[in-house]
Amino acid sequence: MAAEFAPYAVAVTVVLGIETSCDETAAAVVDSNLRVRSSVVESSLDQHRAFGGVVPELAGRAHVATIGPVVQRALSDADLDLRHPSIDAVAVTSGPGLVGSLLVGLSAAKALALAWGVPLVGVNHLEGHLFAPLLENVDLEWPLMTLLVSGGHSLVVLQTSPGSHEVLGETLDDAAGEAYDKVARYLGLGYPGGPAIDRLATEGDRQRVTLPVSNIGEGFDLSFSGLKTAVVRDLERNPGRAVADVAASFQYALSEQLLRKLRRALERYEVRGVALAGGVAANSALRRGVTALAEEFGLVAHLPSMAMCTDNAAMIAAAGLRRLELSGASSLDLSVSPNWLLAEVS
Ligand code: KG4
Ligand code: ZN
Repeated sequence: MAAEFAPYAVAVTVVLGIETSCDETAAAVVDSNLRVRSSVVESSLDQHRAFGGVVPELAGRAHVATIGPVVQRALSDADLDLRHPSIDAVAVTSGPGLVGSLLVGLSAAKALALAWGVPLVGVNHLEGHLFAPLLENVDLEWPLMTLLVSGGHSLVVLQTSPGSHEVLGETLDDAAGEAYDKVARYLGLGYPGGPAIDRLATEGDRQRVTLPVSNIGEGFDLSFSGLKTAVVRDLERNPGRAVADVAASFQYALSEQLLRKLRRALERYEVRGVALAGGVAANSALRRGVTALAEEFGLVAHLPSMAMCTDNAAMIAAAGLRRLELSGASSLDLSVSPNWLLAEVS
């Protein structure tokens, strides 16, 4: 089935996207052919490193300081007139995420929509991630089986068409990225932990440390907190372990669980492609595993570039375009939804 997607049928042609759900302040200009005209991302990550995780108040303050310049840069990078830009709508992440961070982006988006007299559309951050593979390949074929794995969420999602999805399974405890961050912290590798463990794992031998691959029933739900506890127990019993071996074994057990669930989903549902999305989509073991699975099932693997794996506003603008078409504009009394589930988006 060819993508019945681009260009959008909607009258809107150029959208400004705004993303401030966590520590990235991002703005992007995307058109209805899904061409990214500009994408600007500023992160306050350096302010959070010493604390071992994102500090909500620091993130909120950083967004207030950064949102204006980031929007200005996104408009000028897209060659738009800063006073009267040809923007047809403003799409903004309205959840899930940190409440104080979301409020900054939403307030800015409302002000701009009001000033320019254009529609506002609230976007679910997770639905935004689902649009990342499409932004890099507008001709991709549907349906798509997607692993959406980030610091806050881990989901197995069947995408039947852009903006239409079914959540097949999700984590019952920690998210995949959260497990990476917690284990890295325990190993003294700093924050965020994913990239550090991923690097170190290449130098280790996973055979030297045995960690369990969680298997929680017949469905597609996931669980990572048992694995995290197993790492802690193992190191308590064997304090002399080489950190690289622990990293290699942890990375194997975590990606293996995701790949087994993905295999089960591919056996159950007929799809045309497999996709990764979210920050953990940058993980080398997962990318290798998904590529191999796709090959085995004769499917196309959609692995977003690193910039598209992590939080950005281009994916929010793309999702916003589709939401406008499917559900219409949001009202100006839209509020933030810090716990908004992807399953609630339709
Ligand atoms: O999607 P994202 O940028 O932010 C959220 O919305 O959560 O994901 C950040 C998460 C962090 O937990 C980080 O440790 C993880 O993605 N991450 C990785 C890798 N790069 C980033 N996890 C495993 N391997 C990586 N290479
Ligand atoms: Zn994210």
